[in-house]
This record gives sequence, structure tokens and C-alpha cells, in this order.
Amino acid sequence: MKAEITLLPGDGIGPEVLTASRYVLEAVASKYGHTFEMQEFLIGGCAIDAQGTALPDDSLTACLGSDAVMLGAVGGPKWDDPQAEVRPEQGLLGLRKEMRLFANLRPVNPHPALLDASPLRPELLRDVDLIVVRELTGGIYFGEPRHRVELNGEQQAVDTMTYTESEVRRVAHLAFELARQRKSKLTSVDKANVLESSRLWRQIVTSIASEYPDVQLELLLIDAAAMHLLTRPGDFDVILTANLFGDILTDEASVLSGSMGNLASASIGAIKNRFDLPRGLYEPIHGSAPDIAGKGIANPIGMIMSAAMMLRHSLGLEAEAEAVEEAVNKTITNGERTPDLGGTHSTGSLTEKILEGIAAAIPAQ
Ligand code: IPM
Ligand code: MG
Repeated sequence: MKAEITLLPGDGIGPEVLTASRYVLEAVASKYGHTFEMQEFLIGGCAIDAQGTALPDDSLTACLGSDAVMLGAVGGPKWDDPQAEVRPEQGLLGLRKEMRLFANLRPVNPHPALLDASPLRPELLRDVDLIVVRELTGGIYFGEPRHRVELNGEQQAVDTMTYTESEVRRVAHLAFELARQRKSKLTSVDKANVLESSRLWRQIVTSIASEYPDVQLELLLIDAAAMHLLTRPGDFDVILTANLFGDILTDEASVLSGSMGNLASASIGAIKNRFDLPRGLYEPIHGSAPDIAGKGIANPIGMIMSAAMMLRHSLGLEAEAEAVEEAVNKTITNGERTPDLGGTHSTGSLTEKILEGIAAAIPAQ
């Protein structure tokens, strides 16, 4: 296969982990006889520095014209002035919106060898295999109005949480379908006791449930869900939730996996690529980690596992995706770790171990 992949390294540790996943994709390409054309473009703070905008036109055009996009991370203290007109995060949010990626999939299945790396008791983590489906192009991240105004001699800031029926319906269908392919349980998380947008959310999800009688539906409020994720994480299968709630819950869920650096994500929507598969955006859930940027010690696993998700969801390369996942899992089983997990590997030396695993994989015929 010949695929076009746009790479957006971004800021902080973004370029370091993206380089690692690029090596992985090159190894997969040569082993399985594919051609991955990979081109890098600017996004986030580095794009602001170079061109005054977080999402330059040529970056967006490249993303819209490619089969899949991989992104490292955006943001950092340099661009964090709360008064700033342009912010690195606008690049990522704009890209999600322009690519119409309404569903963000964030799987959490702690590796058995990492159960001790979590502050939670290992017996709580043993059966954890869940996936969060976070709505990604609606809610308070995008609702209008959003502005600051002078009100009675002081500033007032406004954000708006909105959802339309169709926005809830499309992501809910995707989550129900996903639950069907897994353990047939869906937990919808909202704040329906307070928010009107959550009451609409709950109403739509509940009405759609009748189309999926084989899927067990559980309804939770976000505050309770935040607690249950720590007290009974093994009970969850698919967790469906709104943009902001999903952002918060997945950072919390990363604690189950031992490190923020481990978690991958795939963002998909209705738009198809040249293979008639979703044209997705693949990024680790972690941020730009300015505290360790430039040191070469970032954990590349979340980014590399995101590359595996890309192989599966956007390129339809299941065997190749599994080869990458197995190589990562074997590396962890063998005790190889970056410092976030108590080890001494650099990003590069851990990636070398993973590349060895891919080289040793038996290619499917
Ligand atoms: C994430 C990040 C982003 C978000 C930021 C960088 C805008 O936290 O992908 O979880 O809030 O969606
Ligand atoms: Mg986040």
C-alpha cells in the first residue's frame, strides 16, 4: 500500500515522540512492503513563532489532503500568557474542527507488568479494559458566545456549553457500535442534574439505546463517574462523554495505566480517506511536557500506540497494527522503561527495543 501521512510534531516533547513513531512506521513499511509518504508541517507554538498563527494554511491543506495525520503535542509556557490573542491550542482545536473529527477514542488497558506503577492497588487494575469515546468538536470547547466583556466595572468572561441533537446522536451511535464489538456495555457520563445540554445528551443517548438492545446502558453523573473510575475501573467497557468531561476523565484514567505517557488516541469522523476508511488524527493524550522537553527522555509509547491505531483505523492494516502493539507490550514485559515509569531508557533507546520487536515479528502473508 502507498499512504500519505501528515506529521505535525508541534511543541515540547512532541517532536521527540513523533520522531520515535516515524521510525516505527518506517520499520513497518519496509517489513511489510508499504510506502508511507510522511511530510512534516508546523502546528501550535512553533507555528505561532514562525508564521503568527497556530494552524498555518499549508499545514491544514496537507492534513485535509492526506490519508491520516499524526500529531505530537502543542503548547508550552512561552505561549501561556492568558491575554494572548493567539494560542497553540487553537491549532489543535481548529484542526479537529476542520477535519470534522467528532469522536476521540482513548483506550485504557493497563499492561500487567505496570500494575505496580499506578498509585491504585493492583487488584483494582487487573481487569481494566475500557475505552473513552470523547465528543470532540462540540460542547464548551466550541460553543458561542465566548468572549470577555466589561460588566459593572469589571471583566466578565463567557464560555458556552452547547450540544445539538445531531452532534450527540452521531457520537452516541459510534459508541454503541463500538460497545457491540467489545463487552456490550456503554456508560454515558453527563451532568444532567444541572446542565440543560447534559439533559439533551441523556435524552438522545437513552432513546438511541432501544436500537441496541444487546448493549447494556449505564448512566452516570460526571462527579460520580470520576469516583467510580478509581473505585471500580474494571467494570467499565465503553465510556461515552462530552468534550470537556472526556478531557478530564482521560487524564484521570491515564493514572490506571501507570503513566500519562502510555495513552494513545484516535480522532475520527465521517470523512473517508482514499482507502474508504476514516481520515483520522492520531495523537498521544499527554501534552508537550515542557519540564522534560529537549532531554530525550519522554515516554514514546502513547505516540507509538497512536501510530498503531492509525495503521488499524485509517489504513486498514490490522496485522501491522498488532505487530507494533505486540512489540510495545513485549518491551514493557521485559522491564524496559523510560524515567516516568522508573526506568533509565531514553526515548531513543526504548524505541530501539520496540524496533527490534517489530523486526522479529512474523509478517502476515
Ligand atoms: C487533550 C488536550 C487538549 C484538549 C488541549 C491541548 C487543547 O488536553 O487532547 O486532551 O483539551 O483537548
Ligand atoms: Mg487533555
